[in-house]
Amino acid sequence: MERIRVRPGEPLSGTVRVSGAKNSVLKLMAASVLAEGTFVLQNVPRISDVEWMGDLLGAMGMNVQRRVDGAVQIDRPGTITPEAPYELVERMRASIVVLGPLLARCGEAKVALPGGDDFGPRPIDMHLRALEALGARFEVRHGFIEARADRLRGAQLLLEFPSVGATENAMMAAVLAEGTTVIDNAAREPEIADLAALLNRMGASVLGAGSSTITIEGVTELSATDHRVIPDRIEAATFLAVLGAAGGEITLEEARAEHMGMLVTKLGEMGMRISPEGDGLWAMVPGRLRSVDVATLPYPGVATDYKPLVVALLATAEGVGIVTENLFSGRFRYVDELVRMGADIRTEGHHAVVRGQAMLSGAPVRAHDIRAGAAMVVAGLRAEGETIIGEADHIARGYERFVEKLSGLGADIADVSEPPEEPVVAPV
Ligand code: UD1
Repeated sequence: MERIRVRPGEPLSGTVRVSGAKNSVLKLMAASVLAEGTFVLQNVPRISDVEWMGDLLGAMGMNVQRRVDGAVQIDRPGTITPEAPYELVERMRASIVVLGPLLARCGEAKVALPGGDDFGPRPIDMHLRALEALGARFEVRHGFIEARADRLRGAQLLLEFPSVGATENAMMAAVLAEGTTVIDNAAREPEIADLAALLNRMGASVLGAGSSTITIEGVTELSATDHRVIPDRIEAATFLAVLGAAGGEITLEEARAEHMGMLVTKLGEMGMRISPEGDGLWAMVPGRLRSVDVATLPYPGVATDYKPLVVALLATAEGVGIVTENLFSGRFRYVDELVRMGADIRTEGHHAVVRGQAMLSGAPVRAHDIRAGAAMVVAGLRAEGETIIGEADHIARGYERFVEKLSGLGADIADVSEPPEEPVVAPV
């Protein structure tokens, strides 16, 4: 899927099932480093990031395969190679979450330092400080972090910022440390609670995950287990944004309103009607949405991952909305693409002022990252003519059967990756 074509069309209708959460499953897979045996993960989305995490675990000597029933099985042998090579970490920065479990279980780790990306620099200082407080020692050599710890010891950790990755790394290290660890100012995202649920099923003692204070009693051994991944709140938010642009009425099976409360409130202020239905959500758009101001914040605030979707929606809403980014410095690059589609957006530092237009104008654009790609689709549904999204393979990193799911709801979207067939030239 390299190029996607989007055109405005009829209002959406129907039902779509939300897949398992990308940002959860990657960490659950990393947790399998902690115990020998066979793990079975259910509800694992078929996305590139999962393949890549599988490649990383494979490079360490583990066996990862998709079973016929759709579950992902991870066989973790008694001995693994505690190394994360550069090519794999560079491809997916979330790979850094193997550092904590490797240290805890193998006593050593060699992990390539992740570089920056389109969101700006991605420092890991908080990850390292937390692991150091648990007794790890680090050296950075030739672009790799080389880490050692004979036996980690529980400690009081106070995170400077509720970083998702640092909380996860600290949690996965502390479960096998000697004594009690308390993580204060921990990230509260639902994916953290999902990771804690897996760790507890493995025999760990993690209390308070999902709140700002997580208490972990170290144990000496963990065992492999089965687990079902929580639904992807960002994918659910994407369907809501697509609905906001196209209009209509849809049902999202398995979407959890309680995982996206602040976004649901904002969309409600914009005029979307959303309510729980069965094991999911029902949503309807009665007319053109109204603008609101939105600021991204750590959970339970509006997630930074929703922001490109919100900006794309505001680009055709009625009125002016101010969007403030509080997490990642560089997350406005997709704005240039929206402007090429006729959006009226001014950015200043970490603010964007979005003046809604009745319609945008379809154009060739690029998907700079997963969510920016989805935002282009949202914009394309309210843009006259056609929008061709290039570099759309970014979308497949985080969305399962994206085009298929949206066209199932009636959106005019197609994968146009294949170049048109060459006309056959008759021999003369
Ligand atoms: C995770 C999510 C990402 C989401 C983000 C924030 C995954 C795979 N990715 O990323 O989709 O947008 O949470 O909800 O789960 N920071 C430091 N030092 C550190 C660690 C982080 O300064 O050691 C800063 C970051 O630069 C950023 C902020 O803290 O400004 C938040 O980052 P963090 O919560 O760690 O995000 P990730 O875990 O990388």
